[in-house]
Amino acid sequence: MIWRLVVLLHVLLLGAGSSSRGGRTVTFHRPQQDDSQDRGRTRRETRPFHGPPFTSCRTPLTPVEHKVLDDNTHETGFNGDDGSYVILTWVGDGTGVVLVLSTFSAPIDSFIEGGSSRLYRSTDYAKSFHDISHRINNTFIREEFGVSVGPGGSVILTADIPVVDNRGGIIFTSTDAGATFKFIQLPFHLAQPITYHFLNPDYLVALSIDGGLWLSLDFGAKWTKVHDGVHSFSWGAGINLFFSRSRTDAVEAEERGDLLLKRTTDLGKTFTTIHEDIFSFGYIGAFLFFSVMEDPRSPRVMYFSSDQGDTFSRALLPSASTEQFYSILDGDVDMLFMHVDNPGDTFFGTMYTSDDRGILFSKSLERHLFDGQRKSDFTNITFSTDEGQCWKSYNFTEQPFFFAGLASEPGTKAMNVSVWGFRPEEDGQPMWVAVTIDFQSLITRE
Ligand SMILES: *[C@@H]1O[C@H](CO)[C@@H](O)[C@H](O)[C@H]1NC(C)=O
Ligand SMILES: *[C@@H]1O[C@H](CO)[C@@H](O)[C@H](O)[C@H]1NC(C)=O
Ligand SMILES: *[C@@H]1O[C@H](CO)[C@@H](O)[C@H](O)[C@H]1NC(C)=O
Ligand SMILES: *[C@@H]1O[C@H](CO)[C@@H](O)[C@H](O)[C@H]1NC(C)=O
Repeated sequence: MIWRLVVLLHVLLLGAGSSSRGGRTVTFHRPQQDDSQDRGRTRRETRPFHGPPFTSCRTPLTPVEHKVLDDNTHETGFNGDDGSYVILTWVGDGTGVVLVLSTFSAPIDSFIEGGSSRLYRSTDYAKSFHDISHRINNTFIREEFGVSVGPGGSVILTADIPVVDNRGGIIFTSTDAGATFKFIQLPFHLAQPITYHFLNPDYLVALSIDGGLWLSLDFGAKWTKVHDGVHSFSWGAGINLFFSRSRTDAVEAEERGDLLLKRTTDLGKTFTTIHEDIFSFGYIGAFLFFSVMEDPRSPRVMYFSSDQGDTFSRALLPSASTEQFYSILDGDVDMLFMHVDNPGDTFFGTMYTSDDRGILFSKSLERHLFDGQRKSDFTNITFSTDEGQCWKSYNFTEQPFFFAGLASEPGTKAMNVSVWGFRPEEDGQPMWVAVTIDFQSLITRE
């Protein structure tokens, strides 16, 4: 479907706010129906766009408003970029730095031929971009690891290199918001993206594909293995690091329910066991929570600790059978929102909120819909409608445009909104396009 995009000013601002709620990274996909013969194009679904319905009346812009928009609309065509998706990440807070990674997903067997990613950087809130792919040596980046942004403008990219014939993975690190990158050879292969400490960007934790827990205290330059047989880990307060490990050094997913929850308070020098027979654990807000299978056939029960695991109590929540699950939806130091799955494959559950000790829960919402990806669907709660207003329309691009999504810096005051999409070039190849509109001038004028 070809969209002739008409910007509906108010709606766009609302919509953009919601699209950025998920975090600092947005991924846009391009449907792949037209190029089945092309190597490196896997089947990807288009991200459905659920915008507010455009049912309001439309009034034309005044000539002055038109001029202001013309002057504040910036279009970038990513020439020759025909990747199936782009990953866009804001670096730092209010710095205006945006990194865009555009790659295509090559099938596993094409590693030998190599692939390359394009990396772009904007320093003016996505109004213009520079191709900085050469700064990462045009290396193919693992898209599923994305662009990891840490405190203070630190950035990590993971190269996509095969496990065989390489003793470890390769990462590119930046401490200056992507202006320059450093190349680092790891002594292990990453199983998942590297995790930053909440506050200190020098402290990194990684899990290797063979269950090793690795720690770096100098932003990735040097790595030390702190434990084997690790299933998952999480930073806690300060330098508390929690992890679950299997009883043997081999990690089997089936063994869950038989894991040990452990803690190190001195960056891997010493360890204590907090609990045995745990199924899963997490740390959110100021709470450590873990579910325990007291015997393999009994439902698991949830425990909470508000003192980094020194003491813990059983949470007053229904117990969950193996088919059900608990999910912490959100939380801060005072409160947790917890979803407890209903029995059966219903997608529904009950939402509970905790008291400030994380122990006593009260039912706050029945038939709570869960999107299945173990994330919150809270976005729905804040959608407020502005019905009855008149929207003004503006055609910001004259050419047909396939709409992929909207992006703006997370935060309520974001005024630079980017519309992402692609359009066919003369040779029929699609080209990614970003159109960024600065609404500041319009808003302040009103
Ligand atoms: C970059 O590419 C060149 C040429 O392929 C190679 O010699 C060099 O080692 C690479 N450097 C890094 C940091 O990957
Ligand atoms: C979101 O809210 C609307 C309006 O209240 C409702 O119709 C819709 O079903 C809700 N969606 C979800 C996913 O809960
Ligand atoms: C925008 O484009 C549509 C479709 O081509 C056209 O009908 C409409 O008049 C245009 N609006 C403005 C304000 O130029
Ligand atoms: C929008 O972008 C401009 C730079 O082009 C910047 O000066 C301005 O602060 C940005 N506005 C917001 C609200 O971030």
